[in-house]
Amino acid sequence: MSKTVVISGASSGIGLATAHLFYDKGYNVIGISRNYPTDKYNFKYLLCDITKEDEVEALKDKLVQMIDSIDVLVNCAGMGVSGALEYSTLKEAKKIFDVNVFGHFLLTKNLLPLLRKSNNAKIINIGSVAGEITIPFQTFYSMTKAAINSFSEGLRIELAPFNIQVSNLQPGDVKTDFTKNREMPIVLEDDIYKDRIKKSIARMAKDEEQGMPTYILAKAIFNLANKKRLPVAKTVGFKYKLFVFLKRLLPKRFVSFIIKKMYG
Ligand SMILES: NC(=O)c1ccc[n+]([C@@H]2O[C@H](COP(=O)([O-])OP(=O)(O)OC[C@H]3O[C@@H](n4cnc5c(N)ncnc54)[C@H](OP(=O)(O)O)[C@@H]3O)[C@@H](O)[C@H]2O)c1
Repeated sequence: MSKTVVISGASSGIGLATAHLFYDKGYNVIGISRNYPTDKYNFKYLLCDITKEDEVEALKDKLVQMIDSIDVLVNCAGMGVSGALEYSTLKEAKKIFDVNVFGHFLLTKNLLPLLRKSNNAKIINIGSVAGEITIPFQTFYSMTKAAINSFSEGLRIELAPFNIQVSNLQPGDVKTDFTKNREMPIVLEDDIYKDRIKKSIARMAKDEEQGMPTYILAKAIFNLANKKRLPVAKTVGFKYKLFVFLKRLLPKRFVSFIIKKMYG
């Protein structure tokens, strides 16, 4: 019998590429997001806004009718916001935390009974290098991804006795619609910040547009799901692995100086 994988954020980008790969490898794939993928797809799809508790509970009920267990859950849905903290609103901050953090909590919590029914279930949370290295003018995004580090680490230990392994996959820049979908700030340029906000966002967008293709991430997620023992976290891309390694090694003040030069 084929294994079942549930992937949130499967309508585009990394999630969509991952859903295609698992399907090609013979998995029973169930994609989840607010909209159907716009490209052709052969896997099953359920619509759900992961920030809405009633929708996530209804999704769980549908899944219970469809399948006996879940072998892999990939928490991939996500969004970005940019801008200076001074000009950001509480509403924006809450919105990104709702999707990138509490949405993953809601989905995971509701699907745990089905995951527990698998012999050796895996949960792969899609974090980011931005959760290790805080990017200015994307600070809320970095905050949500740093929260995913803790979410993954805590969940991993809590679920270990049930033979459910948890890992945090941290991509560097990937070429997807994420850049286009990122919420832009109300204030992009002014007399106080001058053009720093605009320049920083442009730099980030350029890095993403020159980023890795989605199939690299899909392969990394698939390989992780098929590993016997999952690492606590895995960074994807040599350059990004080096950044994360150096960040741990170098003095904080020096790291902050470099990041300021790049994005500040
Ligand atoms: N691209 C990068 O450079 C990069 C780097 C590091 C980490 N990541 C992370 O990788 C993940 C995927 O991003 P991507 O680059 O593939 O971006 P993307 O193409 O914009 O995909 C985002 C996905 O999340 C879904 N989504 C957003 N809000 C949702 C909600 N409330 N409920 C359910 N689904 C929701 C979207 O579908 P709907 O709009 O249909 O709901 C879409 O399928 C994110 O967690 C992102 O933070 C990306």
